[in-house]
Amino acid sequence: MCGIVGYVGEKQAQPILFGCLAKLEYRGYDSCGIALASGSLKVYKDAVRVGELAKASPQLDGMVGIGHTRWATHGEPSQINAHPHCDCAGEIAVVHNGIISNFQRLRNQLTSEGHKFVSETDTEVISHLVEKYYHGDLEEAVKVALRDVDGSYAIIVVLASESKLVVARKDSPLIIGIGDRENFVASDVPAILDYTNRVIYLEDGDIGVVTPDSVTVKSKGAEITREEHKILWSAEQAQKGGYEHFMLKEIHEQPKVIRDTLVEYTRAAEPIVDLERMRDVGAESMLILACGTSYHAALVGKYVAEELIGIPVRAEVASEFNYCGYSLSTPLAIAITQSGETADTLKAMKRVKEGGCRVVAITNVVGSTASRIANQTVYTRAGPEISVAATKSFMAQLMVLYWLAMSYSKADTRRLADMLMGIRQLPEKVKQVLDSEDMISESAEYLSRFDDVFFIGRGINFAVAMEGALKLKEISYIHGEAYAAGELKHGPFALLGSNTPVIAIVAQDNTYEAMLTNIKEVKARRSPVIALAEEGDEVIGELADSVITVPQTDALFSPVVNTVALQLLAYYTARQRGCPIDFPRNLAKSVTVE
Ligand code: AGP
Repeated sequence: MCGIVGYVGEKQAQPILFGCLAKLEYRGYDSCGIALASGSLKVYKDAVRVGELAKASPQLDGMVGIGHTRWATHGEPSQINAHPHCDCAGEIAVVHNGIISNFQRLRNQLTSEGHKFVSETDTEVISHLVEKYYHGDLEEAVKVALRDVDGSYAIIVVLASESKLVVARKDSPLIIGIGDRENFVASDVPAILDYTNRVIYLEDGDIGVVTPDSVTVKSKGAEITREEHKILWSAEQAQKGGYEHFMLKEIHEQPKVIRDTLVEYTRAAEPIVDLERMRDVGAESMLILACGTSYHAALVGKYVAEELIGIPVRAEVASEFNYCGYSLSTPLAIAITQSGETADTLKAMKRVKEGGCRVVAITNVVGSTASRIANQTVYTRAGPEISVAATKSFMAQLMVLYWLAMSYSKADTRRLADMLMGIRQLPEKVKQVLDSEDMISESAEYLSRFDDVFFIGRGINFAVAMEGALKLKEISYIHGEAYAAGELKHGPFALLGSNTPVIAIVAQDNTYEAMLTNIKEVKARRSPVIALAEEGDEVIGELADSVITVPQTDALFSPVVNTVALQLLAYYTARQRGCPIDFPRNLAKSVTVE
C-alpha cells in the first residue's frame, strides 16, 4: 500500500532514498517524504510524486535515513499527513506501511499525557509511543511501543543521534538488503536492486537493528538468523526498457512469461499440486480465493478445472468470502495473489487453514506473506510487475491453473494431446496479438470518446469480459461494466444506446450462437459493437461495427489471446486520454488493508 525504505552506510543517504522510493512508487504515490539523521533530524515531505520532491528538496546531510511513498488511509494526501512522522521533540522519525487499528484510543491516551499530534494519520501514534518509552535504547523503546499497538505494520525508525535503523514487521512485508559497509531496508525488492541482490525477508513479530555493517534480528526477544536470499532478477527487469510505460512493457513480456512459467512446471518431476493426495482425503471439490485480476484468473481456472478434472470448483472473491457462512468442508483451497500481500486474500487463507484446509498459494513474490501462510507455494515466473494494472502476472497465473487442470485431466488422450500442443503454441499466438497493436489502437481511439462501455462474454470468456472491464476502468477512468451476455436483457438494456459501446467477446465454443444473438439484440438498441473474434470467423464482420481478430486457439485457451487484446485496448484508450497509466489515481499495486 505504502512503500518504505531505509539506508544506513557510508554514503549520503538522500539521493539513495529518492532513488529507492522512485522504484517503490507503484505501492502508493499520493505523497512522499524522507528523514535524515545526522545529530539532528531533517524531514522533507509533500503531497507530490517522488521525482518532484527530489527536485524541490534542498541538499540534506546524513548517512542514515528513511523514506516513504504513501497511499492515504487515515487523512487526505497532504504535506502534514505525509510520512515520516516525528515525536514532539523532533528526535525520532517513523515510516510505516499498514494500519494501526487502535490508533484513536492510543492517540487520546497520548494526548492526555501531553503529546501533541500534528497529522490525522494512524502512524503518528508510533512515533509518540516510541518517544514515551525511549530511555536511551531505541530498540527497546520500539519493542515496548509495539506491545500497545494493534493492527498491521512494517516500520523503520530512526533517532537523530544514532547511525542505525530499527525495523519491525507484522502482517506487512519488510526486507533487509545486505550491502558492503551499507545496508538497506524496504517494503519490496525492486527498491534496492540497484544496490544489492542479497536480501533477508523479515517475518511477523521480528524486530531488527540495522547498522552500516551489521544486521541483528530478534523474534520473541531472542536473536535469530533469517536466511539470506539471492534475488535472481536484475534491476533492468524492473525498468521500462525503452517502453513508454511499464504496463506496455509488461504486456509485451507475456510470451516469455508463458514460456518461463510452463518450462518451470512441465519439467517438474512432481505435479505442482498433489491432487491425488487430496483425493485420498476425499477432496471432491476445490476452492479458489483471490481478489481483483487474480480473481478473474480464478474464474478462468474454475472453468478449466471443472471441464478437465470434472470436480466442482468454487471461485470466491476473498474479501467477501471472509464474511460468508460457508462450511469449510473442502480439503483444498488455492489462493491466487500476485503480490502475496493482499490483506483480504491473506485473511481468507488463514481462515480456511484454521478450518483444517490445505492451502496452496499461487504467487509471484518469493518470500511473500502468502507463501508463509500456505502449506505449499507455487511460484509464477512473471518477474517483477511494476505497473499497478496486473497483466503478465495474470497470464502466469493462468498458466499455472491450466497446467494444474491438465495434470489431473480426465479428458481422453487425444484431447489432452491437442491441449498440450495448444498450450505450447500460446507464446506465438500471444505474439500475434501483440503484432496487431495498430488495429487495436484504432479501436482504442474510438473507445476513448465514450464514458461508459459494456463488456460481454459467455462461459469462460465472461471472466475475460470482467478482466477487460477492470483494466479499462482502472487505467482510462472510463466506466467499464462486464456482463454475462445473457444477462443484459434482464436490466442493463435500459442503458444501451448509441453512447454505450459494447465489446463482445465471441469465442468458437458452445456459446458462439448465443453470442451472435446477443450482439443482434445489442445492435437493435443502437449500441456500437466492437467484437473480439477468432480469425476466420466470416459471420461476425456482418454483425459488429468493427472486429478485433485474435488467432485461433483451443476454446479453453481463448482467455489468453482475448485478454491480451483487451489489455492493449485498455492501454491505448488510456493513452489516448492522457491518463497516468502506470500509476492510476487512488490505486496502489498491493492492497495490504482490508
Ligand atoms: C489489477 O489490475 C489490480 N491492480 C488489482 O485488481 C489486483 O489484481 C488485486 O489488488 C489483487 O492483487 P494480488 O494479485 O496482488 O493479490
